[in-house]
Amino acid sequence: MIPVIAIDGPTASGKGTVAQLVAQQLGFHYLDSGALYRLVGLASLQAGIEFSEPQRLQKLCRQMAIEFRDGCIFFGKEDVTEVIRSEEMGKRASSAGAVPEVREALIELQKSFLKPPGLVADGRDMGSVIFPQAQLKVFLTADAKIRAQRRYKQLIAKGISANIEVLTKDLVERDLRDTQRETAPLVQSEDAFLLDTTDQTIDEAVSQIIAWYQKV
Ligand code: DC
Repeated sequence: MIPVIAIDGPTASGKGTVAQLVAQQLGFHYLDSGALYRLVGLASLQAGIEFSEPQRLQKLCRQMAIEFRDGCIFFGKEDVTEVIRSEEMGKRASSAGAVPEVREALIELQKSFLKPPGLVADGRDMGSVIFPQAQLKVFLTADAKIRAQRRYKQLIAKGISANIEVLTKDLVERDLRDTQRETAPLVQSEDAFLLDTTDQTIDEAVSQIIAWYQKV
């Protein structure tokens, strides 16, 4: 069986950075499932489709030409790597993720990332729904205030202006939507290891996951 490490957790918990480094160190492939939902957020905006139109959204997801190449994400010919990282696309992704028809349409695409020698997948339902067979499941989280501060620093470093109060409010709202939706909500599965990175560096989190993986 091809090994999978599933890393799920709330927004701005650092799971993307940690998951990519774990994949790099193990020589595994990497799936950023949030990028797919962010792309649905962007593509639906461009196509003028509302979140209240599940059938149109599902069709859009099935037709979406997405390609991960050289560390960049392409939507057709358009390089959307940066555009989908915005707060607006994060919010739209969370709304799109609450539509069961969208989640269903993305299942096969996500599963297609599983190739030898292994996969590190990050998102909200990697261990619970997409890769329930994962050898290691990690629930990566951190205190909401710390997550908002990390996000704030990231945006400022990119030259994007941000307001810490607004960021904290958005983050709490997004957590609520992601944990309370009916289909595949964000939850810590019983078989997932809890990794709270509130007082941890990225390197410490990466080492902990690799140590767990070597033991399972
Ligand atoms: O991980 P991220 O911040 O890029 O994800 C953006 C949104 O996409 C998140 O708030 C909820 C949704 N999402 C999801 O519903 N399921 C996933 N596996 C990944 C992301």
